[in-house]
Amino acid sequence: MKWQALFFALVTAAFCLGPGTAAPEQSLREAAWSSGILIGAAVRPAQLSEAAYASTLAREFNMVEPEDALKWEVVHPEPQTFDFSQADQVVDFASRHGMKVRGHTLVWHRQNPKWLTEGKFTSRELAEILETHIKTVVTHYRGKIFAWDVVNEASDEVHAGQLRSTIWRDQPGIALDTGRELRASNRDANEKARSGPEARSAQRDYAYIEQSFRWAHEADPQALLFYNEGADTEMVNAKSDAIYAMVRDFRQRGVPIDGVGLQMHISNLHADVASISTNIKRFTALGVQVHFTEMDVSLAVDANGNASPEDLQRQAEIYRQIAAVCLANHGCAAIQTWGFTDKYSWIGSHSKHTRGAALLFDQNYRAKPAYWALRNELEAGRR
Ligand code: XIL
Repeated sequence: MKWQALFFALVTAAFCLGPGTAAPEQSLREAAWSSGILIGAAVRPAQLSEAAYASTLAREFNMVEPEDALKWEVVHPEPQTFDFSQADQVVDFASRHGMKVRGHTLVWHRQNPKWLTEGKFTSRELAEILETHIKTVVTHYRGKIFAWDVVNEASDEVHAGQLRSTIWRDQPGIALDTGRELRASNRDANEKARSGPEARSAQRDYAYIEQSFRWAHEADPQALLFYNEGADTEMVNAKSDAIYAMVRDFRQRGVPIDGVGLQMHISNLHADVASISTNIKRFTALGVQVHFTEMDVSLAVDANGNASPEDLQRQAEIYRQIAAVCLANHGCAAIQTWGFTDKYSWIGSHSKHTRGAALLFDQNYRAKPAYWALRNELEAGRR
């Protein structure tokens, strides 16, 4: 029996490694390569020691992004302490497997350490802290992280078109190089972008974002710098209008911005592909690229985390549509999912485990219909 098993293993290996690899041994990453798109996944460093996690990741993806390991609370736990150990594991893994790394994120209002949020710093102190943070982290990964989400989710979720009130913007906000302090303002950013004095006022509102991009660019002039946003800004609406106005203004004034990240967390089994496509077109017309940065399609699940077969098929169709819309727009350069196995996904813990099954592989690393839909689309849609 033993020699038969050995013979079978050898034949299988030869088949897998041989030229013109047959379809089942192909991977998402090969399909993505032939269509000229990066295919990425958000990664948890602690899981890299799990064989199935590591082998699936390396086989199927050509880009990774630490899911939480580069957020302030992890990377900058004390005022004078930077801890790169977790993110370094992801970067090392990527370099061993020929993968690119996206960095997430330098400026956000969430997952910040208490020393920062409760520190009662003045604007000037806060500006120094932010500059040091951005420059230290970006410099550490210079030449290793090719693209950064410099600022994440700055838009107000309730008041479309306005900026969110955060420690960086107005609580107390960072002091600017010009000496101006950022002020809280509730006026519509679009309106402000239209006329002279109002345009200047809009620039002041967005100044902390502008300054963050400038600091990141100083630390690594080669890195691509992204503004990343979710919550419906994937489509054309008042929120994405405001981001569009900001990016246009930045490009006109030479602020170093290279891309817009559209998160693509989909929770209603519907994707307005026409609107997403129009949105991508207008951003790329400004000369920036678009990455889909955090895609998942969450489903209602039972107590074991399982979704219905019908929903899994509908989910597959959404992954297919999103791949198609990216392939159809040349400036859309990457599709990244927020995790890759349903075993580890933020959806469960963030929905009291009523939702889940959002990713391409099931809890046992088996490819789901969504995987095949995405892969077939990438294979068919060479560009
Ligand atoms: C999520 C992570 O997946 C979780 O592990 C963490 O507990 C909370 O943050 N938008 C973002 C991501 O930009 O950083 C968030 O990630 C998901 C929503």
